[in-house]
Amino acid sequence: MNIKTAKFVISNTDVAHCPVTDLPEYAFIGRSNVGKSTLINMITGVKGLAKTSSTPGKTQLINHFLINDNWFLVDLPGYGYATLSKEKKAKIELTITNYILKRKNLLCVFVLADSRHTVQRIDSEFMEWLATKQVPFVIVFTKADKLTKTKLMKGIEDYRAEMMKSWEELPPMYITSAVKSLGRTEILDLIEETNKGFKK
Ligand code: GTP
Ligand code: MG
Repeated sequence: MNIKTAKFVISNTDVAHCPVTDLPEYAFIGRSNVGKSTLINMITGVKGLAKTSSTPGKTQLINHFLINDNWFLVDLPGYGYATLSKEKKAKIELTITNYILKRKNLLCVFVLADSRHTVQRIDSEFMEWLATKQVPFVIVFTKADKLTKTKLMKGIEDYRAEMMKSWEELPPMYITSAVKSLGRTEILDLIEETNKGFKK
């Protein structure tokens, strides 16, 4: 799929104020600083579309981006940002969970995980919660450029093995690097296929 247009639409904390639409939607979620906003910029090819930062906690709101006037990409605040106050953390978690549970046009959640890390408890708990709520999701490994190919492949193999201990079936997994534009086509293919299915 070619990206012809990518436009910022609205930011807010409340799912009730998200755009009213029947268009398909895909949300990026994961720990703070994992690279959600950067991946949105890489996929759309628009630098600076989603705000990024080298310090965690940059994205605090639900951000809607309209792509090709036909579907939405959503940048969410990261979870697990340790230095936030308890209240602020709880508020962000509520923003995320309300959004996921109430957004009827949300077709797939992209759970981002740093390809240098082992399975993080906060991610596995979040994925288990998605499964109990029957929300379709895929796993996206980020920052693949930070590892050698051998270490990357070993890391993913170990990640799969760890997941297999508690999951009967694993979700699709994608390897990405915003620096190298790795994984862009694969993610856009998935979105294109899912969009087609939605319109049937
Ligand atoms: P929050 O909004 O705070 O939850 O973070 P986020 O998940 O949106 O992360 P963000 O996109 O702001 O990126 C965090 C940092 O990681 C930035 O310094 C990015 O430049 C860097 N980064 C993101 N993706 C990649 C990647 O694929 N490769 C490399 N080398 N750095 C990346
Ligand atoms: Mg962000």
